[in-house]
Amino acid sequence: MSSIHVQAPRIVHLKQTSHPKNHASKEPRMTQRRILVTSALPYANGPIHLGHLVEYIQTDIWVRFQRLQGNDCRYFCADDTHGTAIMISAQKNGISEAEWIARVSEEHQRDFAGFGVEFDHYGSTNSDENKQLCGEFWKSLREADLVVESDVEQLFDVEANTFLADRFVKGTCPKCGRLDQAGDNCECGHTYAPTDLIDPISVHTGSKPEVRTAKHLFVRLEELHEFLEEWSQSGDHLQSETANYLKGHFLNDELRDWDISRPGPYFGFEIPDSPGNFWYVWFDAPIGYIAATKQWCDNTGEDFEKWWKNETTEIHHFIGKDITYFHTLFWPGMLKVANFNLPTKVHIHGFLTVDGKKMAKRDGTFIKGETFLKYLDPEFLRYYYASKLGPKLDDIDLNFEEFIAKVNSDLVGKVVNLASRSAKFLQATGLSKEYPDDGGLFEMAANAGKDIAAAYENCDYNKAMRLILELADRANPFVENAEPWNLKKDVTKADELQDVCTVAVNLFRQIVIFLSPVLPKLAEKAGELFGEPLNSWDQSQTPLVGVPINKFKHMLKRADPKDIEKMTDETKTEFDAANAAEINEDAPAATSGDTDANLLAEPLADEITIEDFVKIDLRIARIVQAEEVAEARKLLKLTVSMGGDNTRQVFAGIKKAYDPAKLVGRLVVIVANLKPRQMKFGLSEGMIAAAGPGGEDVFILSPDDGAEPGQRVH
Ligand code: MSP
Ligand code: ZN
Repeated sequence: MSSIHVQAPRIVHLKQTSHPKNHASKEPRMTQRRILVTSALPYANGPIHLGHLVEYIQTDIWVRFQRLQGNDCRYFCADDTHGTAIMISAQKNGISEAEWIARVSEEHQRDFAGFGVEFDHYGSTNSDENKQLCGEFWKSLREADLVVESDVEQLFDVEANTFLADRFVKGTCPKCGRLDQAGDNCECGHTYAPTDLIDPISVHTGSKPEVRTAKHLFVRLEELHEFLEEWSQSGDHLQSETANYLKGHFLNDELRDWDISRPGPYFGFEIPDSPGNFWYVWFDAPIGYIAATKQWCDNTGEDFEKWWKNETTEIHHFIGKDITYFHTLFWPGMLKVANFNLPTKVHIHGFLTVDGKKMAKRDGTFIKGETFLKYLDPEFLRYYYASKLGPKLDDIDLNFEEFIAKVNSDLVGKVVNLASRSAKFLQATGLSKEYPDDGGLFEMAANAGKDIAAAYENCDYNKAMRLILELADRANPFVENAEPWNLKKDVTKADELQDVCTVAVNLFRQIVIFLSPVLPKLAEKAGELFGEPLNSWDQSQTPLVGVPINKFKHMLKRADPKDIEKMTDETKTEFDAANAAEINEDAPAATSGDTDANLLAEPLADEITIEDFVKIDLRIARIVQAEEVAEARKLLKLTVSMGGDNTRQVFAGIKKAYDPAKLVGRLVVIVANLKPRQMKFGLSEGMIAAAGPGGEDVFILSPDDGAEPGQRVH
């Protein structure tokens, strides 16, 4: 029995929430599964890019696979429309939020369709249905006495007139001093509140935010601890890495109250019993999954209860690892309290890198779906991602050389080639009346279907693709040895030709059925060739015989590296143009493209005269000795020479940034006339010129080649 500790017993449903065992692949399928699938709701503040598409393609493949298996599988998504970012995007573009999100929604849906990602319904979190459902969840939380009130200090952007969510604040890490870190965590692993940042800056306006206090509402998540522990650690619902992560990072401690409201102005739903306060976007966003289902039910006459309040329905969420926390703690907690179905599985994937690096606009690797579609076939990306996606959370890398090689050698060279070399010879005769002896190839492939299906079910698409390509690797030698193009020349071998080609196109057909969740367009074209759609896994188990074959039409073009180049060039050009526009707007004379974050972090000092400046004697010096000061966290002891026996001892706070051995011999700039200072570890007789905030981010200045120790810097 699972239980949650709450005072008000009304919402405590002690009934065990059991879900139908995943009909895993290995057991024969007995009944049709009813499966509701979602992908994360993309933010309505930017275009769909190749990173997003990892997820939507992964999900779409899974959905298509389930349908191919004969399951009643429905796929829902929506735009995530609330929050300050969207408010500000609309403001910047001089339109209302409603206009902004309508525009983005259209673009998102266009791009998804372009990649063959097909939803049963695509909604918006800014809908009446969602508002209504949010009210229902809220009521349940209130009734369970899980909501408390508390004052919160938050950064407020005065220019934009808005409180700043963590992600819209950047600043210097209070622990390690790294510049330009996110509002809630640093690359060093340290987590903090944005108000702890040194020199915080609003991402929206670049201005320095001020701290303001406001009332917030919180959900007492700790009350659901036992339930969440049981749900997340049961082994059924989450990948083991995720379960372990939750255990290690959250469940071993008391769960913190979840801040679920934001004071206005905020683009979202106002909380009915707390005027002036709005539900935080992460409260209404996942409820958007349900709202999208609700809209679909209303449109189609489907029974809503059957999909969200019936334990025989499986719920599968696909998300990226960055939003694990929301989907594996808050969300199941909310569903539990409001008495909706719990997720059967949350499938979590890693992040996309391009050529081993994070996507970046500057490098031309922040590629929009729209741009990809201009130059390349979407099925290439679907296949490439499928071949890279496994059941774990590893990041996946898009490497364009590999992309071209894989697509051309696998899809064009091995799969389509099977048909293009044989189908044309069947034009006149159709397929043989009986399936010829093929040395067991068809049967072997039919049997492999089981493992392939299991791999799809487990989101191990990489394995599925390998197994399928192995089939192609066996089928191709059959055609090569039989040489239909030579049989064709000999009229006495017409029957043999028909048989050989019947085998070849049947092996092709089987492979295409297995690939059809990944390559729906190819499957459609193959279906036209055979005169019947390929829409059921069972079709892979029986060869097609005795029917005519349609004219073979071209199915897939080879991928051309030049198109990749065009695509990345366009991405770069777009970035340059956007950047130039921004610079022109803000500061007509600026040309570097660098941001002014550093200047904002450390404003310029008061003006001085040249007389003031010449008082500072800057000299070139060579580091002749460098050693660590064992007792000091930050200091290195350096001996620098300005030539001859003019040496100085300097203590410099650069230990975290430099290996002393590598410093010896290099030229630096020192402040040579600085009054010596007695330090705990000895006398410091000058200062090394360096930039950066400190910690690992210290950058010693070096003169250009040719400068010599002792020369003055003017
Ligand atoms: N709006 C939230 C989700 C709310 S769900 C109730 C959100 N939106 S998002 O647009 O930022 O991301 C949508 C999905 O795309 C997320 O699951 C996210 O992990 C995924 N990806 C976004 N960029 C990605 C990569 N570069 N690589 C892989 N997936 C990525 O989060
Ligand atoms: Zn840090």
